[in-house]
Amino acid sequence: MTFKAPDPAHGKVPSHTCQGCHGPGLASMNSAIPGLAGQNPSYTRLQLTVFRARLRPSAVMWQQAAKLSDQDIADIAAYAATRQPGPAWKVGSADAALAAKGEALFQAGDGPRNIIACAICHGSDGRGSDCLGVASITNLSPDCGGKVLHEFKDTPEFGIPHPNAMRITLRPMTEEDLKAVQIYISSMGK
Ligand code: HEC
Ligand code: HEC
Repeated sequence: MTFKAPDPAHGKVPSHTCQGCHGPGLASMNSAIPGLAGQNPSYTRLQLTVFRARLRPSAVMWQQAAKLSDQDIADIAAYAATRQPGPAWKVGSADAALAAKGEALFQAGDGPRNIIACAICHGSDGRGSDCLGVASITNLSPDCGGKVLHEFKDTPEFGIPHPNAMRITLRPMTEEDLKAVQIYISSMGK
């Protein structure tokens, strides 16, 4: 991928097409669609290039990404990073115990079961790291979280570090563990 210094003001223009699905200012209000606002640019860039190369499944995004140049991708990612992430999802009382379990797994992992704390890579605040290519995962709805965690868990080995970090982390986790972290991360952030 080659691009000049990313320009958020330029990225705002092509992002109009995206806002119909990803929400105003790219902050999603729709639990079926991930928000892009506040995301680390390196993560957004990588996802758009893997959609464009049809390596990550999503017919909708294949079509969207096909239209974007490397520079568009870099500019949109820079614009998204300047936006405030959109709402944290509320935990219903029926899910409070699961959210607490998710918090414990996220922050501390589970040594005897070989589960690495998510916080080691994503940070205790869930905002990830741009220079390490680790996604910010606060404000991700439980539906989107569930979908992407299952994608990582079920995906074949690519031999490149990014998806493999998640694959290895998720391997020892049960369905209930996944549900628990999904509810917890959706409630992180404002
Ligand atoms: C018709 C609706 C629609 C439009 C328009 C759309 N997207 Fe998406 N986008 C989706 C859906 C649905 C997903 C979730 C894909 C999945 O995981 O199956 C997604 C996922 C993504 C992701 C991955 C997010 C993550 O957290 O992993 C990025 C980045 C993205 N879209 C960027 C864009 C950009 C940039 C545009 C505009 C050029 C755009 N999208 C336009 C529906 C849309
Ligand atoms: C060893 C480092 C590492 C650990 C530990 C880790 N992650 Fe990740 N995670 C990553 C990286 C790197 C990415 C970006 C993957 C990519 O580029 O495809 C990611 C991506 C994600 C995504 C996708 C974000 C999106 O917007 O779709 C979610 C959700 C996620 N991680 C949740 C978790 C949870 C929950 C845990 C703990 C159970 C966890 N991660 C543990 C490194 C890690």
